[in-house]
Amino acid sequence: MKHFLNLIDLTTDELSHLLAEAARLKDAHTRRIPSHSLSGRVVGLVFEKPSLRTRVSFESGIAQLGGTSLYLPGNEVGLGWRESLADFARTISNYLDALVLRVYRHETLDGIASTGSIPVINGLSDWSHPCQGLADILTVRELFGTETGRTIVFVGDGNNVARSLAVGCGRLGMRFVLACPIGYGFDDRFKAQYTARVSPDFPREVNDPIAAVRGADVIYTDVWTSMGQEAEREERLRRFESFQVNADLLSKAPSHCKVLHCLPAHRGEEITDDVMDGPACAAFQQAGNRMHAQKAVLEWLLK
Ligand code: CP
Ligand code: NVA
Repeated sequence: MKHFLNLIDLTTDELSHLLAEAARLKDAHTRRIPSHSLSGRVVGLVFEKPSLRTRVSFESGIAQLGGTSLYLPGNEVGLGWRESLADFARTISNYLDALVLRVYRHETLDGIASTGSIPVINGLSDWSHPCQGLADILTVRELFGTETGRTIVFVGDGNNVARSLAVGCGRLGMRFVLACPIGYGFDDRFKAQYTARVSPDFPREVNDPIAAVRGADVIYTDVWTSMGQEAEREERLRRFESFQVNADLLSKAPSHCKVLHCLPAHRGEEITDDVMDGPACAAFQQAGNRMHAQKAVLEWLLK
Protein backbone atom coordinates (compact mmCIF):
# COMPACT_ATOMS: atom_id res chain seq x y z
CA MET A 1 0.00 0.00 0.00
CA LYS A 2 1.51 3.31 -1.14
CA HIS A 3 0.70 6.61 0.58
CA PHE A 4 1.73 10.20 -0.12
CA LEU A 5 2.45 11.53 3.35
CA ASN A 6 5.91 13.15 3.08
CA LEU A 7 8.24 13.81 0.15
CA ILE A 8 11.02 12.18 2.18
CA ASP A 9 9.29 8.80 1.70
CA LEU A 10 9.78 9.04 -2.08
CA THR A 11 12.94 8.21 -3.97
CA THR A 12 14.48 10.60 -6.48
CA ASP A 13 13.18 8.33 -9.26
CA GLU A 14 9.66 8.41 -7.87
CA LEU A 15 9.74 12.20 -7.60
CA SER A 16 11.09 12.51 -11.14
CA HIS A 17 8.33 10.20 -12.36
CA LEU A 18 5.65 12.30 -10.64
CA LEU A 19 7.06 15.53 -12.08
CA ALA A 20 7.14 14.09 -15.59
CA GLU A 21 3.59 12.79 -15.21
CA ALA A 22 2.41 16.14 -13.84
CA ALA A 23 3.85 17.88 -16.91
CA ARG A 24 2.18 15.31 -19.19
CA LEU A 25 -1.18 15.74 -17.43
CA LYS A 26 -0.86 19.51 -17.64
CA ASP A 27 -0.24 19.29 -21.37
CA ALA A 28 -3.20 16.92 -21.79
CA HIS A 29 -5.38 19.31 -19.81
CA THR A 30 -4.29 22.28 -21.95
CA ARG A 31 -5.11 20.31 -25.08
CA ARG A 32 -8.42 19.13 -23.56
CA ILE A 33 -7.59 15.45 -24.04
CA PRO A 34 -10.15 13.51 -21.97
CA SER A 35 -9.03 10.97 -19.37
CA HIS A 36 -10.89 8.22 -17.54
CA SER A 37 -8.02 6.98 -15.40
CA LEU A 38 -10.01 7.38 -12.16
CA SER A 39 -13.30 6.16 -13.60
CA GLY A 40 -15.37 4.46 -10.89
CA ARG A 41 -13.02 5.66 -8.14
CA VAL A 42 -14.21 7.73 -5.19
CA VAL A 43 -11.76 9.91 -3.27
CA GLY A 44 -12.68 11.43 0.10
CA LEU A 45 -11.36 14.79 1.28
CA VAL A 46 -11.34 15.29 5.05
CA PHE A 47 -10.34 18.82 6.02
CA GLU A 48 -9.85 19.94 9.62
CA LYS A 49 -8.65 23.38 8.43
CA PRO A 50 -9.77 25.81 5.71
CA SER A 51 -8.51 25.52 2.14
CA LEU A 52 -9.01 27.01 -1.29
CA ARG A 53 -6.24 25.58 -3.47
CA THR A 54 -5.95 22.08 -2.03
CA ARG A 55 -9.64 21.33 -1.92
CA VAL A 56 -10.59 22.82 -5.28
CA SER A 57 -7.55 21.52 -7.16
CA PHE A 58 -8.16 18.00 -5.84
CA GLU A 59 -11.90 18.08 -6.57
CA SER A 60 -11.38 19.45 -10.09
CA GLY A 61 -8.46 17.13 -10.81
CA ILE A 62 -10.44 14.07 -9.68
CA ALA A 63 -13.40 15.11 -11.86
CA GLN A 64 -11.09 15.63 -14.86
CA LEU A 65 -9.80 12.07 -14.46
CA GLY A 66 -13.34 10.68 -14.39
CA GLY A 67 -13.47 10.04 -10.63
CA THR A 68 -15.74 11.31 -7.90
CA SER A 69 -14.76 13.32 -4.84
CA LEU A 70 -16.52 13.59 -1.53
CA TYR A 71 -15.77 16.54 0.78
CA LEU A 72 -16.03 15.68 4.47
CA PRO A 73 -15.58 18.60 6.90
CA GLY A 74 -13.36 17.60 9.79
CA ASN A 75 -15.84 18.69 12.43
CA GLU A 76 -18.47 16.30 11.04
CA VAL A 77 -16.14 13.34 10.80
CA GLY A 78 -14.67 14.03 14.25
CA LEU A 79 -11.30 12.35 13.73
CA GLY A 80 -10.09 10.91 17.00
CA TRP A 81 -12.92 12.30 19.14
CA ARG A 82 -16.17 11.01 17.59
CA GLU A 83 -14.49 7.67 17.12
CA SER A 84 -10.92 6.44 17.18
CA LEU A 85 -8.66 7.03 14.17
CA ALA A 86 -8.44 3.28 13.61
CA ASP A 87 -12.22 2.82 13.66
CA PHE A 88 -12.59 5.74 11.24
CA ALA A 89 -9.90 4.36 8.93
CA ARG A 90 -11.25 0.81 8.91
CA THR A 91 -14.79 2.03 8.24
CA ILE A 92 -14.01 4.53 5.51
CA SER A 93 -11.71 2.08 3.70
CA ASN A 94 -14.90 0.16 2.79
CA TYR A 95 -16.39 3.10 0.95
CA LEU A 96 -13.55 4.99 -0.68
CA ASP A 97 -10.58 4.30 -2.94
CA ALA A 98 -8.30 6.98 -1.46
CA LEU A 99 -8.39 9.68 1.15
CA VAL A 100 -6.93 13.21 1.15
CA LEU A 101 -6.62 14.72 4.62
CA ARG A 102 -5.73 18.18 5.92
CA VAL A 103 -5.05 17.84 9.61
CA TYR A 104 -3.70 19.73 12.59
CA ARG A 105 -1.47 16.93 13.82
CA HIS A 106 0.63 14.93 11.39
CA GLU A 107 0.22 11.89 13.68
CA THR A 108 -3.42 11.78 12.61
CA LEU A 109 -2.28 10.94 9.07
CA ASP A 110 0.07 8.24 10.29
CA GLY A 111 -2.69 6.74 12.44
CA ILE A 112 -5.13 6.54 9.54
CA ALA A 113 -2.57 5.33 6.99
CA SER A 114 -1.41 2.54 9.29
CA THR A 115 -4.87 1.23 10.19
CA GLY A 116 -6.89 1.75 7.00
CA SER A 117 -6.52 -0.13 3.73
CA ILE A 118 -6.62 2.70 1.17
CA PRO A 119 -3.94 5.19 0.07
CA VAL A 120 -3.72 8.35 2.19
CA ILE A 121 -2.59 11.70 0.76
CA ASN A 122 -1.35 14.50 3.00
CA GLY A 123 -3.22 17.68 2.02
CA LEU A 124 -1.18 19.62 4.66
CA SER A 125 -0.31 18.82 8.24
CA ASP A 126 1.62 20.73 10.88
CA TRP A 127 4.71 18.80 9.73
CA SER A 128 4.65 18.86 5.94
CA HIS A 129 2.86 19.84 2.74
CA PRO A 130 4.12 17.40 0.09
CA CYS A 131 1.50 18.27 -2.58
CA GLN A 132 2.73 21.85 -2.37
CA GLY A 133 6.38 20.81 -2.58
CA LEU A 134 5.76 18.78 -5.72
CA ALA A 135 3.91 21.65 -7.43
CA ASP A 136 6.67 24.05 -6.36
CA ILE A 137 9.37 22.01 -8.06
CA LEU A 138 7.22 21.58 -11.17
CA THR A 139 6.95 25.37 -11.28
CA VAL A 140 10.72 25.85 -10.92
CA ARG A 141 11.24 23.34 -13.75
CA GLU A 142 8.84 25.30 -15.98
CA LEU A 143 10.44 28.64 -15.12
CA PHE A 144 14.05 27.58 -15.67
CA GLY A 145 13.84 24.54 -17.96
CA THR A 146 15.36 22.37 -15.24
CA GLU A 147 15.34 22.54 -11.46
CA THR A 148 18.81 21.03 -11.14
CA GLY A 149 21.39 23.46 -9.76
CA ARG A 150 18.88 26.19 -8.90
CA THR A 151 18.95 27.99 -5.56
CA ILE A 152 15.71 28.50 -3.65
CA VAL A 153 15.90 31.00 -0.79
CA PHE A 154 12.94 30.50 1.53
CA VAL A 155 12.43 33.76 3.44
CA GLY A 156 10.24 33.02 6.43
CA ASP A 157 9.31 30.33 8.90
CA GLY A 158 10.93 26.88 8.92
CA ASN A 159 7.45 25.38 8.71
CA ASN A 160 5.53 22.56 6.96
CA VAL A 161 5.91 24.15 3.51
CA ALA A 162 9.62 24.84 4.01
CA ARG A 163 10.31 21.28 5.17
CA SER A 164 8.67 19.68 2.14
CA LEU A 165 10.38 22.02 -0.28
CA ALA A 166 13.76 21.50 1.39
CA VAL A 167 13.39 17.73 1.00
CA GLY A 168 12.32 18.04 -2.63
CA CYS A 169 15.30 20.28 -3.32
CA GLY A 170 17.67 17.85 -1.61
CA ARG A 171 16.37 14.91 -3.63
CA LEU A 172 16.46 16.73 -6.97
CA GLY A 173 19.78 18.56 -6.91
CA MET A 174 18.64 22.03 -5.91
CA ARG A 175 20.10 24.24 -3.20
CA PHE A 176 17.72 25.29 -0.42
CA VAL A 177 18.57 28.15 1.93
CA LEU A 178 16.35 29.15 4.84
CA ALA A 179 16.44 32.84 5.82
CA CYS A 180 14.57 33.20 9.09
CA PRO A 181 14.68 34.96 12.44
CA ILE A 182 16.72 33.21 15.13
CA GLY A 183 14.54 30.54 16.73
CA TYR A 184 12.33 29.95 13.67
CA GLY A 185 14.60 27.63 11.73
CA PHE A 186 14.31 23.88 11.20
CA ASP A 187 14.00 21.83 14.36
CA ASP A 188 16.30 19.03 15.47
CA ARG A 189 13.83 16.31 14.50
CA PHE A 190 13.80 17.51 10.90
CA LYS A 191 17.58 17.89 10.87
CA ALA A 192 18.00 14.30 12.05
CA GLN A 193 15.50 12.99 9.49
CA TYR A 194 17.01 14.98 6.62
CA THR A 195 20.60 14.06 7.30
CA ALA A 196 19.73 10.38 7.74
CA ARG A 197 17.48 10.04 4.70
CA VAL A 198 18.21 12.84 2.20
CA SER A 199 21.78 14.11 2.50
CA PRO A 200 24.45 14.76 5.13
CA ASP A 201 24.56 18.35 3.79
CA PHE A 202 21.75 20.01 5.67
CA PRO A 203 20.30 23.20 4.07
CA ARG A 204 22.01 26.39 5.16
CA GLU A 205 20.13 28.59 7.63
CA VAL A 206 20.86 32.32 7.73
CA ASN A 207 19.36 35.21 9.66
CA ASP A 208 20.11 37.95 7.13
CA PRO A 209 17.56 37.90 4.28
CA ILE A 210 19.46 40.48 2.20
CA ALA A 211 22.67 38.45 2.15
CA ALA A 212 20.64 35.28 1.51
CA VAL A 213 18.85 36.43 -1.65
CA ARG A 214 22.05 37.57 -3.43
CA GLY A 215 22.41 34.15 -5.00
CA ALA A 216 18.71 33.29 -5.34
CA ASP A 217 17.10 31.95 -8.48
CA VAL A 218 13.84 31.83 -6.52
CA ILE A 219 12.72 33.68 -3.42
CA TYR A 220 9.97 31.72 -1.71
CA THR A 221 7.78 32.87 1.14
CA ASP A 222 4.78 31.70 3.16
CA VAL A 223 2.64 33.18 5.90
CA TRP A 224 4.44 33.96 9.17
CA THR A 225 1.62 32.46 11.24
CA SER A 226 0.43 29.09 10.03
CA MET A 227 -3.01 27.65 10.69
CA GLY A 228 -3.08 26.47 14.30
CA GLN A 229 -0.49 29.07 15.48
CA GLU A 230 -2.91 31.98 15.79
CA ALA A 231 -2.05 32.56 19.46
CA GLU A 232 1.55 33.41 18.40
CA ARG A 233 0.51 35.92 15.75
CA GLU A 234 1.52 39.17 17.53
CA GLU A 235 4.90 37.79 18.53
CA ARG A 236 5.53 36.44 15.04
CA LEU A 237 4.61 39.78 13.40
CA ARG A 238 7.33 41.40 15.49
CA ARG A 239 9.95 38.72 14.96
CA PHE A 240 9.49 38.41 11.19
CA GLU A 241 9.19 42.14 10.46
CA SER A 242 12.54 42.40 8.66
CA PHE A 243 11.85 39.24 6.62
CA GLN A 244 9.21 40.76 4.36
CA VAL A 245 9.57 39.99 0.65
CA ASN A 246 9.30 43.50 -0.80
CA ALA A 247 10.74 45.46 -3.73
CA ASP A 248 13.83 46.38 -1.74
CA LEU A 249 14.65 42.75 -0.92
CA LEU A 250 13.91 41.65 -4.48
CA SER A 251 16.28 44.35 -5.80
CA LYS A 252 19.14 42.61 -3.92
CA ALA A 253 18.53 39.35 -5.84
CA PRO A 254 19.77 38.62 -9.38
CA SER A 255 17.56 40.20 -12.05
CA HIS A 256 16.30 36.80 -13.25
CA CYS A 257 15.06 35.86 -9.75
CA LYS A 258 11.45 34.65 -9.49
CA VAL A 259 9.16 34.85 -6.48
CA LEU A 260 6.98 31.97 -5.31
CA HIS A 261 4.37 31.81 -2.55
CA CYS A 262 2.26 28.77 -1.69
CA LEU A 263 -0.68 31.12 -0.95
CA PRO A 264 -2.86 32.34 0.66
CA ALA A 265 -0.74 35.50 0.87
CA HIS A 266 -1.05 37.90 3.75
CA ARG A 267 -0.28 40.96 1.65
CA GLY A 268 1.47 43.63 3.67
CA GLU A 269 2.94 41.02 6.03
CA GLU A 270 5.30 38.45 4.47
CA ILE A 271 4.94 39.94 0.96
CA THR A 272 3.97 43.30 -0.51
CA ASP A 273 1.45 44.04 -3.25
CA ASP A 274 4.10 45.30 -5.66
CA VAL A 275 6.01 42.01 -5.50
CA MET A 276 2.87 39.83 -5.58
CA ASP A 277 1.56 41.70 -8.61
CA GLY A 278 4.95 42.30 -10.23
CA PRO A 279 6.63 40.50 -13.13
CA ALA A 280 8.88 38.29 -10.96
CA CYS A 281 5.98 36.63 -9.17
CA ALA A 282 4.88 33.20 -10.45
CA ALA A 283 2.60 32.33 -7.52
CA PHE A 284 -0.52 31.86 -9.61
CA GLN A 285 1.22 29.60 -12.12
CA GLN A 286 2.44 27.72 -9.04
CA ALA A 287 -1.12 27.52 -7.63
CA GLY A 288 -2.33 26.14 -10.97
CA ASN A 289 0.34 23.47 -10.85
CA ARG A 290 -1.13 22.06 -7.64
CA MET A 291 -3.85 20.41 -9.69
CA HIS A 292 -1.52 18.80 -12.23
CA ALA A 293 0.90 17.57 -9.57
CA GLN A 294 -1.94 16.05 -7.53
CA LYS A 295 -3.44 14.33 -10.57
CA ALA A 296 -0.05 12.66 -11.03
CA VAL A 297 -0.09 11.58 -7.37
CA LEU A 298 -3.61 10.17 -7.66
CA GLU A 299 -2.74 8.14 -10.74
CA TRP A 300 0.49 6.92 -9.12
CA LEU A 301 -1.47 5.68 -6.11
CA LEU A 302 -4.57 4.36 -7.84
CA LYS A 303 -3.86 3.27 -11.40
N1 CP B 1 -1.32 26.42 -0.60
C1 CP B 1 -2.39 25.82 -0.10
O1 CP B 1 -2.36 24.68 0.37
O2 CP B 1 -3.54 26.57 -0.17
P1 CP B 1 -4.90 26.24 0.58
O3 CP B 1 -4.64 26.39 2.04
O4 CP B 1 -5.88 27.26 0.06
O5 CP B 1 -5.33 24.84 0.25
N1 NVA C 1 2.21 27.22 6.43
C1 NVA C 1 0.84 27.47 6.06
C2 NVA C 1 0.57 26.96 4.70
C3 NVA C 1 -0.80 27.24 4.17
C4 NVA C 1 -1.02 26.63 2.81
C5 NVA C 1 -0.08 26.84 7.08
O1 NVA C 1 0.20 25.72 7.53
O2 NVA C 1 -1.08 27.45 7.44
